Amino acid sequence: MRKFQWPRRAIAKQESQIQSPSFYGMWDTISRFAAEIRASDFTADMIRRRDAYGSEGAMGAIDCATLYGLTRWLRPTVVVESGGYVGMSSAFILKALTDEGLAAAKLHSIELSQECEQGALIPDELRSVSSSFVPMRGRIEDFLKRNELPSSIDMFLHDSSHSYRHMLWEFHQFWPRLRDGGLLVSHDVQMNAAFPEFVAETYAHDKKTGRRDAQWTSHYEWGRWGYIGFAIKKS
Ligand SMILES: C[S@@+](CC[C@H](N)C(=O)[O-])C[C@H]1O[C@@H](n2cnc3c(N)ncnc32)[C@H](O)[C@@H]1O
Repeated sequence: MRKFQWPRRAIAKQESQIQSPSFYGMWDTISRFAAEIRASDFTADMIRRRDAYGSEGAMGAIDCATLYGLTRWLRPTVVVESGGYVGMSSAFILKALTDEGLAAAKLHSIELSQECEQGALIPDELRSVSSSFVPMRGRIEDFLKRNELPSSIDMFLHDSSHSYRHMLWEFHQFWPRLRDGGLLVSHDVQMNAAFPEFVAETYAHDKKTGRRDAQWTSHYEWGRWGYIGFAIKKS
């Protein structure tokens, strides 16, 4: 299994805090990346493509920017997304991987529908630069059953069926596959209580004070921006 390394930018801050790494600086970094991409020609072009295609079901611009910021901050090598659809979210993940120079990184994008043009919105230059985009057609349940997905993942994005049951099921399926410091990301967390309930399960509390027990809590940080929720796994 690949040894976990903190994102490059976080190291300097954390060297003096090895016992209790601080993630406070990540908010600044991610919001800077998100603001950069939100104002970019890339985003303007993607919105044009999405609207020309028919925007229903594809991720909105604010959430795409957050997803881009999170991906750049983490610098993942193995990414899995459920609900690839026409590839709005895929394009922003691939753009972040490219902007970080992660040529060996892979995005495994799973889409159930046989009808939709999976990844149709992804610009050609992001497809052709490397073979990072790995489209997989079928139900995520079946790929898991057949054990066809990587066993160690840096980042998982949920964007398939947004029923409470299915969201919680995907979180429980992919959390164990995430390595220490890996990122669980979910779109549309506002649709039901699955994401906050999942995060609540990762907390441990000191019996006397009721405060977070950092040693036994199994996330380093979590948050919500727009309709995106994320949690950083602690093994
Ligand atoms: C909200 S759309 C995804 C939007 C996409 N991420 C984007 O930004 O363009 C949800 C997609 O999840 C797919 N889906 C639903 N249930 C699924 C499952 N069990 N396995 C795989 N894909 C699924 C649907 O076919 C649909 O295309």
